[in-house]
Amino acid sequence: MESGKPSYMADRTARLRAAHQLLDDDPKILADPLAVSLYGGNTESDIQEDLEFLQKPVLRRARTFMVVRARYTEDQLTEAIKRGMEQFVILGAGLDTFAYRCAESVKNLRIFEVDHPDTQRWKLAKLKAAQIGIPAHLRHIGVDFERHSLADKLTAGGFDAAAPAFFSWLGVSYYLERHAVFSMFAFIANMPPPSQIVFDYLLDETLLDEKSRQSVSSARRETDTHGEPLRTRFVPRDLQAELQSTGFCKVVRLTPEQATQLYLSGRRDGLSLDASLQLMSAIV
Ligand SMILES: C[S@@+](CC[C@H](N)C(=O)[O-])C[C@H]1O[C@@H](n2cnc3c(N)ncnc32)[C@H](O)[C@@H]1O
Repeated sequence: MESGKPSYMADRTARLRAAHQLLDDDPKILADPLAVSLYGGNTESDIQEDLEFLQKPVLRRARTFMVVRARYTEDQLTEAIKRGMEQFVILGAGLDTFAYRCAESVKNLRIFEVDHPDTQRWKLAKLKAAQIGIPAHLRHIGVDFERHSLADKLTAGGFDAAAPAFFSWLGVSYYLERHAVFSMFAFIANMPPPSQIVFDYLLDETLLDEKSRQSVSSARRETDTHGEPLRTRFVPRDLQAELQSTGFCKVVRLTPEQATQLYLSGRRDGLSLDASLQLMSAIV
């Protein structure tokens, strides 16, 4: 991230989620009306003006992944809540709207939005401008994953480290150095069972097919330009094994084919995924 500035890619991701609400067929993969209001006053007309750009195949696939990953995470969280989970930590929250969208239905869930302080300040200003209130059970925690102790900051913000928690970590692992990614996994693996993390990761260069290669090249051009280079990639099977040896009991990979089957079958708008970004869930 560029020093003193909010994450450009958080803005970009939120814009793609807003585009899904406005351009794609119902039912939405992720129904997120707040994505449009949080994004800003002219979102609708801006998106219509940008239509040609946003309908490029590579950007259609990117926005499909952005909404599929959020939907999968929220589905996993719903299952965890049914089993009694009471804490939800959104790591690298960006302009995620879950806490504001679902305030009424998850009153017993304590939510912690964790993000780089520069991005978090910007989000709080956006929430205020959009007149979106902060629910009582939500806390904002400013952390730089590469410099601060997440544990200390969370505890200072009221997180109970002795109770299980569900963590989402979407759109972040590939911007960090490998050691920072594994410190995060180690921290969560040491939480009480059945703590869980759902995260996405960038597929190793050696495994990319042509479509995925195009997606990564396009993303790399953009992320390099904005000071958020792509740094860390994984081979899924190796990552699964590493998570198991870090202390997770159940590690599940959601392949692009499985995600397509779960969330895209029967759609008429032709949304599709490629293999460049993938999802994994790990339970302690
Ligand atoms: C691409 S955005 C994804 C945001 C959100 N999860 C979503 O799906 O919309 C990446 C997020 O990671 C955060 N981030 C990147 N590097 C970070 C770091 N070193 N410490 C804390 N947050 C970081 C950014 O501030 C940003 O909110």
